[in-house]
Amino acid sequence: EYRFMSVGIDDISFYSSGLYLSLSTLADHNGEDPDKYRVGLGQERMGVPAPDEDIVTLAANAARPLINDGNHDRITTILFATESSIDQSKAAGVYVQRLLGLGSNCRIVELKQACYSATAAIQMACGLVARKPGDQVLVIAADIARYGLGTPGEATQGCGAVAMLVKDSPRLLEVHPETGCYSEDVMDFWRPNYMDTALVDGKYSTIVYLKALRQSWKHYRENAGSVDFGDFSRFCYHLPFTKMGEKAHRKLAVTNGVSMDAELLEQQIGSGLLYNRQIGNSYSASLYIGLASLLENDKEDLSGKHIGLFSYGSGCVGEFFAMTVCNGYREHSRREQHLAMLEQRQELDYQTYAELFGHSCPQDGGEHYFPEMAAGHYRLAGIHDHKRIYSETD
Ligand code: HMG
Repeated sequence: EYRFMSVGIDDISFYSSGLYLSLSTLADHNGEDPDKYRVGLGQERMGVPAPDEDIVTLAANAARPLINDGNHDRITTILFATESSIDQSKAAGVYVQRLLGLGSNCRIVELKQACYSATAAIQMACGLVARKPGDQVLVIAADIARYGLGTPGEATQGCGAVAMLVKDSPRLLEVHPETGCYSEDVMDFWRPNYMDTALVDGKYSTIVYLKALRQSWKHYRENAGSVDFGDFSRFCYHLPFTKMGEKAHRKLAVTNGVSMDAELLEQQIGSGLLYNRQIGNSYSASLYIGLASLLENDKEDLSGKHIGLFSYGSGCVGEFFAMTVCNGYREHSRREQHLAMLEQRQELDYQTYAELFGHSCPQDGGEHYFPEMAAGHYRLAGIHDHKRIYSETD
């Protein structure tokens, strides 16, 4: 039995663009077998940002459903995790605070370490709440994964944001204090300040990911005492593409002398892969969109069960940690909201996708006014005088 103060995730909401590209359309254009993407990478679709969407609008759309009269003034901190930053100085969370109409007595900061930083944000949020129960922390992770047209990473692009409310006596998940970390200075994936697409050594990145998993798990076991693989009912992994999660889970099982057949694999990680298969890589948001997918789609009642999570960010930092699912979590599911958002997306043909790719994330310092394409409540209307102008739709 774990004994610690009950702190964790009270609510989760995510958002992706209203536009997507089917990976079979991409395969046709790139002259690849569609099964390479569908089976080999485990991806069906990828979210494509409209020109009037960025990490701020994705984040504000994700967080909007979480805010109500009860918590509006209790959110004392906003932690915004991203590697698609829009400014070297100003934290994206400051725009989000205004767009959501949150109280002004709030500390706000942006965090970066590739796809890992949302996990650092969760740990920091739990620390803040444990120190002062009653406070609530809004953790947001938002990213746009861009590798470039015709690159090997292209099929693993995507975009999305997830917002989580961290508080005491949470309704969804208690976060355990024990964790295992691994960090190493490697160049598997990075994006210099002068580039708007990532540089990646793809095969190497998958090897480092698995090494960081093994090492984080080893450290976790040193910290967590007698806990082992069999204590977890479900596992969630950072998902650059869903096949990576399957590979990671098989690797962890082998490391622990557990034989993993297709049925056990499906039971332990399958329901956590559904949303990411439709969205693509959302970098820092990806692990937590997977967590929402697990809670909202698993057929079994997971109340009281332990979930093992592995967060990975290239460069690299990995962390293995654990959560316990709260009794009654199903009453607070946002499954309908999330499924409706995914179903209402509009499919793009290849030509439109390629044109949009050239128009999103402008970094030329010029004046821009964007056509109204974003499907969500918030949009980036333009950039004037080097200032971003956000607006709300009805
Ligand atoms: P690639 O060279 O395009 O693909 O690169 P491949 O030839 O390795 O094929 C992919 C898989 O499809 C293989 O499966 C093939 O066998 C299979 P595997 O052998 O690996 O199990 N395949 C087929 N399966 C069925 N039917 C077919 C067929 N053809 C082939 N007809 C790669 C793939 C992932 C390297 C590339 O997409 C890439 O560079 N992606 C970006 C990097 C990445 O996602 N890395 C993941 C680990 S690092 C990480 O997760 C961090 C990250 O999120 C960034 C951050 O932290 O900020 C990326």
